[in-house]
Amino acid sequence: MIIKTSKAIPSSEITPEAVFRKRRDFLRAGAVVIGSAASGFLPGEAGAQTAADRELLSARSPVKISNPDSARWWQQKFDGRKDLPASGPFTTDEQLTPFSDVTTYNNFYEFGTDKGDPARNSGKFVSDPWSVEIAGEVGKPGTYALEDLLKPHTLEDRIYRLRCVEAWSMVIPWVGFPLADLIKRFEPTSNAKFVEFQTLVDPKMMPAQSSRFATIDWPYQEGLRMDEAMHPLALLAVGVYGNVLEAPNGAPFRLVVPWKYGFKSIKSIVRINFRADMPNTTWNDLQPREYGFYANVNPQVDHPRWSQATERRLPSTLFKPQRIDTLMFNGYAEQVAGLYEGMNLRRNY
Ligand code: MTE
Repeated sequence: MIIKTSKAIPSSEITPEAVFRKRRDFLRAGAVVIGSAASGFLPGEAGAQTAADRELLSARSPVKISNPDSARWWQQKFDGRKDLPASGPFTTDEQLTPFSDVTTYNNFYEFGTDKGDPARNSGKFVSDPWSVEIAGEVGKPGTYALEDLLKPHTLEDRIYRLRCVEAWSMVIPWVGFPLADLIKRFEPTSNAKFVEFQTLVDPKMMPAQSSRFATIDWPYQEGLRMDEAMHPLALLAVGVYGNVLEAPNGAPFRLVVPWKYGFKSIKSIVRINFRADMPNTTWNDLQPREYGFYANVNPQVDHPRWSQATERRLPSTLFKPQRIDTLMFNGYAEQVAGLYEGMNLRRNY
């Protein structure tokens, strides 16, 4: 079991922002699209986890929040508190995926299907101001400015594995707070059995939403069973690597469900809807035989077109593929297996 409960080093102290930004100069155009090529390799410099990366990761300077804009944004949105972020209880000591991969190798179909498209095509994306609608079976429905939604929460660092259904994975230092804390505040009724999430629709800022070739019926939407949503591992992220989320990672706030395939971790959320019935979800609607509602990481249940037994831990190259075994529930079985007791996970994929 890889999760530790020991005190972690805040992600904000790991890599100074200036160094991140220099390293973002090269965009990588990965050719793998969801549902098409689990065996592809990420093009990029050989052995991307270089000495420079190792140096970055070990250079744990006493930077609090390295980018002053991030500091300002958080202080504005989180009631002016200065003690952010704190180390959270869930983390892993696996080697972090470099910032350049985390922010330039993305699935965010609103900006295009190529892995480099979100970084390339998100220049017009504006995530401030932002508002979120809380709807459905809930005591306090309404449309809330993001700062009002975030204010009472305390941010923490969470280093999580992210396992994409395409069989690549990363280790990402998020900044966020438990989804459960937000849910409790809005007082779901006893009818609320599921939570549905939707991403912004705005073709002016998200160009692929107006593309004739888009197969997705926007908005991108996802859902969780209520007990899954209340699990302490389910995170609402507002930052990555110690700074505010950038567009390719789902600015200004997104879901991260680390024991499920990455497509459950919906980005740039504008609506959270509490429901009595199971919501439709984007990939399940598109290809129900290939993508289920549950989408728990499961090395024993293959995708119809490829094995899920192993994964490529990014950065991965032809010469250094970094292929590793996939773990049940992405290594979080100890925490979440109880949610699925007695359930046939082959049928409920
Ligand atoms: N959210 C939206 N709105 N649109 C998307 O295309 N892609 C999903 C998920 N969230 C997606 C999304 C998929 S397939 C994955 S693997 C993760 O985001 C990737 O998150 P990352 O790019 O931050 O690593």
